[in-house]
Amino acid sequence: MDRYTGPSPELKARILGLVQPDRVHRDLYISEEIFRLEQEHFFANTWNYVGHGSQIPKPGDYLTVEIAGRPLIVVRQPDGSPKVLMNRCAHKGSRLVSQPCGHTGKFFRCPYHAWTFRTDGSLLNTPVKEGYDGTAMRECESGQGLVVVPHVREYRGFLFAKLNDVGPSFEEYFGESLSSIDNMADRSPEGELEIAGGCLRYLHNCNWKMFVENLNDTMHPMVAHESSAGTAVKMWMDKPKDAPKPMAIEQFAPFMSDYQFFDDMGVRVFDNGHSFSGAKFSIHSKYSGVPAYEEAMVKAYGEQRAHDILGLTRHNTVYFPNLTIKGAIQAIRVVKPLAVDKTLIESWTFRLKGAPPELLRRTAMYTRLINSPFSVVGHDDLHAYRGIQEGLRASGNEWVSLHRNYDPAEVGQKDLTVNGLSEISMRNQYRAWARYMTLDM
Ligand code: FES
Ligand SMILES: [Fe+2]
Repeated sequence: MDRYTGPSPELKARILGLVQPDRVHRDLYISEEIFRLEQEHFFANTWNYVGHGSQIPKPGDYLTVEIAGRPLIVVRQPDGSPKVLMNRCAHKGSRLVSQPCGHTGKFFRCPYHAWTFRTDGSLLNTPVKEGYDGTAMRECESGQGLVVVPHVREYRGFLFAKLNDVGPSFEEYFGESLSSIDNMADRSPEGELEIAGGCLRYLHNCNWKMFVENLNDTMHPMVAHESSAGTAVKMWMDKPKDAPKPMAIEQFAPFMSDYQFFDDMGVRVFDNGHSFSGAKFSIHSKYSGVPAYEEAMVKAYGEQRAHDILGLTRHNTVYFPNLTIKGAIQAIRVVKPLAVDKTLIESWTFRLKGAPPELLRRTAMYTRLINSPFSVVGHDDLHAYRGIQEGLRASGNEWVSLHRNYDPAEVGQKDLTVNGLSEISMRNQYRAWARYMTLDM
């Protein structure tokens, strides 16, 4: 049998050829082979979100997650730092932990033959030890314990990991885009966030990239969401202008803003595929104030700083590839690619520590109305994604157009703010996609 020597230069050239400055090949969304290569290379070369620190507050607390098709355990160490381990027993490969989260105490114990491992991954014990006397077990990989993921970072509670050694450090990779996470955490009078309640999961019958690119697609809300948000707006239309809007109407109505609104909103893109829409204002800017919260913020930060923090109302920030956050409403969505045409979205809600309960009520309502399996708005998007996944099977046009407001000077820029209706965020994502797909080839 021939020895597998890794990807060929031809393969690398073919992948790079799928991404042009202003359009991408349909294989990005529909090719099983590309999906497999993404799992092997792209997701292992990029920094991925693996959970929130508030889910594992104490040493021994853990959660399980999958990145790049690899099963992982994220576990809090006795010194308070997080570690990410491969969820694979060093003996015969059994999954070590099967719960989504829990507390393991001082060690993990394999459910198959009871090998035990410290929370830092090192091998603690094996039953009937003498059986290994005179064997090479202790010197080989199995004797070294669990495989430890080399790159892990907790940033203001957000946990990220990178599997491969290639590519930039955490700070370099995310750069200035981290200001969106800062703003979300700063919105707490104590400067800290915690996950509130459980997770809402919903399956999307589409490639993961359709979901991610849609988060800064400002040309679709007024069209795709006309039937849902548009109906809410119509229901409210004949009410007197000064009648206080119910929270649901406040949250639905901005989706029906016109092209000018979304264009003026602006979009800012960063190196490595990150971006946010709402550089100047956003659909979250006009929510009614919550006086008790504003008072708590002024008390914590002083008038000017509180004003600056609350004045930053960015729409979606995409932390390419798998985390998208809405700082202004304290909600995040995490992208889990399952197959070329199947993507699980996890929707999480956050509590701002030290803020009154009204804030969490507002966030919970937003999550329910917009980012959940029972959302009316979300189903408009689901329908659109499924339509693209099916439409792209057509022949005769191999390309997906991302030409809107393309300017050759944008290529290579590391931080750029342009008009909100531009498709620059998607072009920026795919340039990063091509780079990280081939970084280790
Ligand atoms: S597979 Fe884990 S102890 Fe045997
Ligand atoms: Fe949408």
